[in-house]
Amino acid sequence: MTPQSGIVECRFVMALCRPGFEGECAGELIARLDHCAIDGRHGAFPRSGQVRIDLDNIHPFDFLDRAIRLAALTFVRQLSFGFADIDGLADKDRVSPLLVAARKAGTPFSAILPEAADGTAQRPLAALARRLQAPLDRAFEKHHLLRPRRTQLPRLNILLAAPERAWLGLSSAANGSPWPMGIPRLRMPSRSPSRATLKLAEALLTLLTTAELEAAMRPGQRAVDLGAAPGGWSWQLANRGLRVTAVDNGAMSPQVLATGMVEHVRADGFTWRPATGVDWLVCDMVEQPARISRLMADWVASGRARRAIFNLKLPMKKRLAEIENCRRLIGRRFAQASTDFDLRLRQLYHDREEVTAYLAACPSG
Ligand SMILES: C[S@@+](CC[C@H](N)C(=O)[O-])C[C@H]1O[C@@H](n2cnc3c(N)ncnc32)[C@H](O)[C@@H]1O
Repeated sequence: MTPQSGIVECRFVMALCRPGFEGECAGELIARLDHCAIDGRHGAFPRSGQVRIDLDNIHPFDFLDRAIRLAALTFVRQLSFGFADIDGLADKDRVSPLLVAARKAGTPFSAILPEAADGTAQRPLAALARRLQAPLDRAFEKHHLLRPRRTQLPRLNILLAAPERAWLGLSSAANGSPWPMGIPRLRMPSRSPSRATLKLAEALLTLLTTAELEAAMRPGQRAVDLGAAPGGWSWQLANRGLRVTAVDNGAMSPQVLATGMVEHVRADGFTWRPATGVDWLVCDMVEQPARISRLMADWVASGRARRAIFNLKLPMKKRLAEIENCRRLIGRRFAQASTDFDLRLRQLYHDREEVTAYLAACPSG
């Protein structure tokens, strides 16, 4: 069968997000669609962890895939472009009707991703999605519709909206999360002093590609951790071989200090500065997002740190506006330094009322 994903007509955009952030997720998708002169309407599914935007016109998959990029979105965990809805899936055989509907795409797939939204209410659906993985893979392989080695082929996202209902969409590997539901499953390292370590581990995994991380983070580098106590983030960096200056007036866990890689400095993270530049700055201080953004931009734009990863605690309302304000503040500081920058913002699985950012200066021109 010839791959024809470019001409698959998609009718809706489907996205997964943290339950409670459907408004922000839909808001940023609608803004992107507007920017590309694509009209659509989204249904309200409060606290469902999923967003669907029905497009007024149908559009080719490749066009949508180029127009809406996951990396530019903050609140979207998983993204795909829908071409079929199925209702009436029966307990005894969900695989056959899904196979028939998937054939409408006219292309084989590089992966099949049965998914459900996040959240307590959706747990049975997520379990059902996991159970469907192996039978779907077997059936699609048998009908030559699954070609895992041909990674340029689109992936098939099957979002279970209910036990009997599924939305079928396409995504490209480069424009979708590699993890089902957009959630990387990370194991808590037994030696870390706090679960916060998982947030930094997820940030490194999600905000940078494997190649970028390998090039940018190496043993022997120096890092500063502002608001470090009790030390989950410092431990994560030390565990990767970095020497860390942990700045916090609070106590650091003895486990972290015992690594011999972490020096504790009791100081105010807003005024403390290193004697020479460092490779990495991380910051988890609980403060106004605008204040943190200005501080991070200043460290990176002035060359005190080459790269930064930081958390922005969001207000309850106007979260999208707050994010835009932070982007503007960072942009202004880099404009003063006449330097371009790379800013990536994402609400991670381990983030609650917050988002995590990666910031680096990049060569101009
Ligand atoms: C959410 S906790 C950090 C958790 C840490 N990332 C971990 O992995 O264990 C926030 C920390 O920021 C510190 N903090 C808040 N304001 C600060 C400031 N102005 N200077 C230094 N530390 C500050 C607090 O003392 C607290 O320990």
